[in-house]
Amino acid sequence: MNENFLWGGATAANQAEGGYNLDGRGLSSIDLCPIGEKRSAMIRGLSNQLTLDETQYYPSHKGIDFYTHYKEDIALFAEMGFKAYRFSISWTRIFPTGVEETPNEKGIEFYSNVIDECLKYGIEPIVTISHFDVPVALIEKIGSWRSREMIGYYLNLCRVLFERFKGRVTYWLPFNEINMILHAPFMAAGLVFEEGENQEQVKYQATHHELVASAMATKMAKEIDPNNQIGCMFAAGSTYPYTCNPDDVWQALQVDRENYFFVDIQARGYYPNYAWKFFEANNIELTIEDGDLALIKENTVDIIAFSYYNSRCVSADPNAASQAEGNLFASAKNPYLEASAWGWPIDPKGLRITLNEVYDRYQKPLFLVENGLGAVDEVTEKGEIIDDYRIDYLSKHMAEMVKAVDLDGVDLIGYLTWGAIDIVSASSGEMSKRYGFIYVDGDNEGNGTYKRSKKKSFDWYKEVIASNGKNL
Ligand code: BG6
Repeated sequence: MNENFLWGGATAANQAEGGYNLDGRGLSSIDLCPIGEKRSAMIRGLSNQLTLDETQYYPSHKGIDFYTHYKEDIALFAEMGFKAYRFSISWTRIFPTGVEETPNEKGIEFYSNVIDECLKYGIEPIVTISHFDVPVALIEKIGSWRSREMIGYYLNLCRVLFERFKGRVTYWLPFNEINMILHAPFMAAGLVFEEGENQEQVKYQATHHELVASAMATKMAKEIDPNNQIGCMFAAGSTYPYTCNPDDVWQALQVDRENYFFVDIQARGYYPNYAWKFFEANNIELTIEDGDLALIKENTVDIIAFSYYNSRCVSADPNAASQAEGNLFASAKNPYLEASAWGWPIDPKGLRITLNEVYDRYQKPLFLVENGLGAVDEVTEKGEIIDDYRIDYLSKHMAEMVKAVDLDGVDLIGYLTWGAIDIVSASSGEMSKRYGFIYVDGDNEGNGTYKRSKKKSFDWYKEVIASNGKNL
């Protein structure tokens, strides 16, 4: 592995920060997603509950209180030897309703402090501009990304970030898991559907706005600082056909295209033919303004960033296989794979396959910015957390990643684990679904001391980084 390889970890504002109403922060989409049975309809855009309900618990309001613990947390990341730390910006900390002319200085100060804290330890900050997070005021005013006006508001945020953090931040990801708009449209993009409307139409029009915004952000980032490196970011994981029946193989190709569609545009610079045909077949008519396609063409990304949790498996026959869980994507259960306690398949070799597939397709540097195991951790009487299952998951994935780089020649610039520290789960809102090397004493209802303690995997990852991936 290259000596400059970026080992580290990642979190997101909406799952870590808490402090949801502190220092002028406005209400964000994620603040409306409660834990429990109402969450699924909310994150999928099927609920129009845009005000807080006192009978519900909203995990983002507290997160893990990274807002006040960030120094302690980053010091722990530094102790593990992190070379990079990925975090996201809570839009409403900077622009509380999205439409303000001037930013909230308190919000800028917070991120400036986080960045300085990273730099103090030689940790490269990797900034996701929008990670499942839009101002509620913009959802109410213009319907979030369904409106083209959203682009302008988003670019206001980008400009502030690029200008204020110039020279301190080089790596920017305009949107987290951009393809998640298809699966969790409210969580990913603030979309709330109206009854009877063509949801695909709404999702793809909103996607077009995000793609234009991403191209404009890329252009702006380069104008402000030519050193800036921009990455698209998608939820990856190759799709396997359930059998070698050509119908299954065809189905798998179709599902893969659903995800690659976004990256095809952001990395190659144009809508692929299969997309136009898909729109036609599904009565989707995109409103595309003059200049949009040229802009997309001229402002492709430098890096392809992605998350990998598992591969997927599909069958053309809906009755052929039972369904597996997996990062909000429906998928057939792969009989060759074990699964996590949340039913997500575990497929280390799938990571090598995915890395190769993505690199073959785009021939641009890749960055794996999320990989990890959500599991229940027990604290022993001695206060220890022996998370051998996490070490097992991560070491097997890392071994496949090392093969992809050293044996297959994939150009990968870094590997970040998801949840460097325990945070709230995006899909379920649970604290008990833990990903971190650092245990946080909090439960699903927000009770606990929120004290941090090191798990067994903490020292293990420290050694992985120190040996540059030799000791897994
Ligand atoms: C990715 C997201 O989809 O998966 C993260 O970018 C999320 O925000 C992660 O936390 C793991 O999913 P979950 O639902 O287990 O938290």
